[in-house]
Amino acid sequence: MSLIEVRGVTKSFASGSETVTPLQALDLTVAQGEFVCLMGPSGSGKTTLLHLLAGIDRPTAGTVHVAGVEVSALSANELARWRTRSVGYVFQQYNLIPVLTAYENVEVPLLLLRMAAADRRRRVATALAAVGLTDRAHHLPRQLSGGQQQRVAIARAIVADPAAVFADEPTGNLDRVAAAATVELLRRLVREFGKTLVMVTHDPITAQAADRVVHLDKGRIVAEPSHA
Ligand SMILES: Nc1ncnc2c1ncn2[C@@H]1O[C@H](COP(=O)(O)OP(=O)(O)O)[C@@H](O)[C@H]1O
Ligand SMILES: [Mg+2]
Repeated sequence: MSLIEVRGVTKSFASGSETVTPLQALDLTVAQGEFVCLMGPSGSGKTTLLHLLAGIDRPTAGTVHVAGVEVSALSANELARWRTRSVGYVFQQYNLIPVLTAYENVEVPLLLLRMAAADRRRRVATALAAVGLTDRAHHLPRQLSGGQQQRVAIARAIVADPAAVFADEPTGNLDRVAAAATVELLRRLVREFGKTLVMVTHDPITAQAADRVVHLDKGRIVAEPSHA
C-alpha cells in the first residue's frame, strides 16, 4: 500500500521578474513503511519536494496525497492541524527552542492538540525513551551535544505518532559517529514503529541505510545520479 502519492507536481516561485521552477511534473510513490532517500545536487529541488510532502508549502500544479489525505487541497487551518498529527519533520539545524528543556521541546507539538496532561506526559516520556534521552530530559539544548540535540528533534518529530517522517539532511551538521547513530535511529523508526521515512542526504554512506534512493536533478527524478 502506498502512503505517499505525488502526481504531476510542479512548483514555481516568482523570483524578482523571473519565475523559478524547482520541481517539474514530478511523480513519486512511497510505500507504507518504506525508507526512501532523496539525493541530488544543491538546488535540484529536494527541500522544495519535502516541503510539499509535509504540507509546509503547496504545489503550483499537481496533487500530493499522504495517508489518503489530499494535502495539496487542505485550507491553511486544516493544514496546520494535519501537519501536527500526521507528519514529523527533522531539520539539519535541529531547530530546537533554546530556552526550553529537551522535555519541553518534545512536548510542543502536543500542546497544539487537545490532550489530557497525563497523556501528554506519557507520550513525551515514551518519545524521549525511544531516542535514548530519558536522562537528559531536563537539559537545555546548549547543554547537549549536536547528536543529542538531533535525537531530541527526532523525539519531537514522532511524539504525536505521525505516519510519515521527513528529514532534510539530518546528519549534515554531525560528525561521522553521531551521523551513524542518527541514521540508525531513523531506521529503527521505520523497522520498529512502522513509520514511512523520506530523508534528504548528500552522503552515499548515509543513503545505504535506505530501502530505495531517488535521484533528483533540476526538478526531475532521474535514473542515474548526477555528477555535476
Ligand atoms: N521560496 C523560494 N523562492 C524562490 N526560489 C526558491 C524558493 N525556494 C526554493 N527556491 C529555488 O528552488 C531551487 C531548488 O531549491 P531547493 O529545493 O532548496 O534545492 P535543494 O534542497 O535540492 O538544494 C533553487 O534554485 C532555489 O533557489
Ligand atoms: Mg535543501
